[in-house]
Amino acid sequence: MRVPLIAGNWKMNMTIPEAVELVNGIKIGLRWPEDVDVVVAPPFTSLKMVSEVAKDSYIAVSAQNVHHEENGAYTGEIAASFIKDAGANYVIIGHSERRQHCNETDELVNKKVRIALKNELKPIVCVGETLEQREQGNFVEVIEKQLSVGLEDLTQVLASELVIAYEPVWAIGTGKVATVTQIEEVHEKIRAFLAKNFSEDVANSVRVLYGGSVKAENSKEILSLPNVDGALVGGASLNSAGFIEIIKSLPPR
Ligand code: PGA
Repeated sequence: MRVPLIAGNWKMNMTIPEAVELVNGIKIGLRWPEDVDVVVAPPFTSLKMVSEVAKDSYIAVSAQNVHHEENGAYTGEIAASFIKDAGANYVIIGHSERRQHCNETDELVNKKVRIALKNELKPIVCVGETLEQREQGNFVEVIEKQLSVGLEDLTQVLASELVIAYEPVWAIGTGKVATVTQIEEVHEKIRAFLAKNFSEDVANSVRVLYGGSVKAENSKEILSLPNVDGALVGGASLNSAGFIEIIKSLPPR
């Protein structure tokens, strides 16, 4: 059985004191939930501090990005080993905001996934179509290409470490949520892709999260879908009470 995962992507929000307050708010507001992995992804500057506050709690920490090289002359970039060193165990890779604003390609996503896994960071790989691609009807092909290039040449052992987040670009930060039918359709396709390109075991062990305007008001319905193993939450993760409500809305297992 896959353990559900609820991750909060704080994006470019939260100073160090604010980040500490938020993670403490989650830690105190929700004591050791059973059968769920909870992850928060603060900005790089508060990664270490948040990891220290989250230590000895159920909360794991993620970075929001990683550079694809081990180290070297890359001014302003952050290596996977530094993220690990700061106490994080996960990293979000290929978020649509990075694809859109920083021109990240599927090939670059693949390099980042490899360097993350090499450094024992669990990648949360984001895929998803734009509104135009949804309307054109070729969204499944778009997502399959993101997966086939982004996860190219990974061994089955490494692939089973992945977390995939399906985030339709048109649903991120817009308040527009995909319908349960749309979500389940894509999640099923992602699972079928993993079975075909890796193995049934990999398909059964990889968590596939939904992201895009998830909040306490809609999370119960989304999280009860058979192929949805959790959520990647942006805006609604910036408030501990709201984020806790989302965790609590997971169906009992
Ligand atoms: P949102 O962001 O929940 O604010 O739509 C989700 C994400 O970008 O991961």
